[in-house]
Amino acid sequence: MEISPSILSADFGNLLSDIQKVETEKPEYLHIDIMDGHFVPNITIGPLVLNALKGKTEIPFDVHLMIEEPDKYIKEFVDAGAKNITVHQEACVHLDRTLQLIKSMGINASVALNPATSLDTLRYVLSSVDMVLIMTVNPGFGGQVFINGMYEKIRELASIRNERGLNFKIEVDGGINIDNIKDVVLAGADVIVAGSFIFANGDPGENLKKLREAALK
Ligand code: DX5
Ligand code: ZN
Repeated sequence: MEISPSILSADFGNLLSDIQKVETEKPEYLHIDIMDGHFVPNITIGPLVLNALKGKTEIPFDVHLMIEEPDKYIKEFVDAGAKNITVHQEACVHLDRTLQLIKSMGINASVALNPATSLDTLRYVLSSVDMVLIMTVNPGFGGQVFINGMYEKIRELASIRNERGLNFKIEVDGGINIDNIKDVVLAGADVIVAGSFIFANGDPGENLKKLREAALK
């Protein structure tokens, strides 16, 4: 299991310092949520902020684009240090083209599904993605409650991967904490995104450690 702390719930006035607090626990990725106020009802940050962090942390940037027309901005995010870019199936008219565009820039290409979107929509691209992100809340905000119906979706995706002999990772995003992380991993998740649990209360490094422990219990 890998962890991708989401900086959405970090203190943006002290962003680098919050990132350094999780760095000591060696998270595999740093999850960066990009929202445009159109695809989701919230606005966050853009490549400018990633550029400012680039080179100041060793943690690879796992960029989750919750934006319309992502193709327009992919190069900027790659230049700003993204090592993985995840686009939403619902935001891409030509999903295969968008995934190829990301790959052509030499980084990982991944796709996210909103809770209501079927796994069937990914059938013909699954063999060319590095990761599938299952949203376990409706995207747009941190601190929401995990939607229990998503366990089945994670299990189904893991079984499709197995049947087809594919090796993309399954990332799960939204409402994950020490009470449900183990079940999420047992359902088939490889990469766990956690925002509010890590950054909203107490020490982010300690919280990350607690999550890893809870997953192993
Ligand atoms: C929500 C974002 C998530 C968010 C998760 O749209 O994609 O990455 O930061 O936050 P928590 O862990 O608080 O649900
Ligand atoms: Zn996210």
